[in-house]
Amino acid sequence: MIDVKVAKTELEKVANLEQLESFFQQYLGKNGSITLAFKQMGSLSPEEKKSLGQELTEAKNQVAEAYEAKQKELSIEQINAQLNADIVDSSLETAHVDQGSFSLLTNIRRDAEEVCKSMGFIIEYGTEVVTKFENFESVNIPLTHPATEMHDTIYLQDKDLSGENLILRTHTSSMQNYLIQKYGLPLKAVVPSRVYRYENMDAHHDVMFYQLEGIVVDKNLSVAHFKDMMEKLLSALLHKKVETRMRPGYFPFVEPGFEIDARYEIYNQQTGKKELSKRIELVGAGMIHPNVLKNAGIDTNEWWSGFAFGIGISRLAAMRYGIKDIRYFTNGDLRFAKSFA
Ligand code: DAH
Repeated sequence: MIDVKVAKTELEKVANLEQLESFFQQYLGKNGSITLAFKQMGSLSPEEKKSLGQELTEAKNQVAEAYEAKQKELSIEQINAQLNADIVDSSLETAHVDQGSFSLLTNIRRDAEEVCKSMGFIIEYGTEVVTKFENFESVNIPLTHPATEMHDTIYLQDKDLSGENLILRTHTSSMQNYLIQKYGLPLKAVVPSRVYRYENMDAHHDVMFYQLEGIVVDKNLSVAHFKDMMEKLLSALLHKKVETRMRPGYFPFVEPGFEIDARYEIYNQQTGKKELSKRIELVGAGMIHPNVLKNAGIDTNEWWSGFAFGIGISRLAAMRYGIKDIRYFTNGDLRFAKSFA
């Protein structure tokens, strides 16, 4: 006979759905004790069948009912456990990931590019490895000229087609010839890019620095156009109203040549008054020498004129952010990099 009490006690001990399945097989499954008991009734007399059948059915119903209740309970428990396991705790700290950022020099260069684009300049970078022709002769610097010594040059072992050693460009003026040939005239282009010199490094000199070369050629351009454009450009680059002064300067690729100094209004903390800053030499510049146009295949009998300039972007950045030593820009010191991130 089936002892419902025993079955129920056993059911109480069931702790999970797997154990519940064994319980089911033990009592109610195909070979379970209740199912087998029903099968064994075949040999009994009709009266015995009737009374035993009723008892068995009653027992089966009770066990099945208890089984179903237990099944429900365990299923709910399982769902809750799963939900608890899946909960995302957004207050937990996540693994810390540092976000990268552009270096200060890159930011200044990009900023300068935006300014130049808005003023209608084409932007080109060119290559850092150039021929001596590009770097010197194309811009009217004969190789014997003392000006080549102003640009202590880094030579490479590789040679160009004429057998001359290639060099790292010492100035972005090396792009003038290429730009004129590529775009023809009129032309308005800038080269915000890297240049290299064999220097003794100190707070103001590094072997690599950025220049912003500009070249503008058109008909009837005068120094007045040039001065006006430089004031607008420098003001936009420095985010201040800049006043310029042009002094005579010597560069073989311009005639006349200028050094351009800039000054702007600053706030004097001691006097509490606004005053003009010292003049700072920022730009080498001048009216383009006819030989530069000739070297690029331009007929100089036509009335083209133009100007070119070279701005030290690293110096510009140092000025804008009050940085005393330009080597910080490239020495990889994370404390410096992060303070401008
Ligand atoms: N190339 C010069 C230098 O590196 C800077 C410069 C001076 C560029 C005069 C120019 C210019 O375009 O007209 O020192």
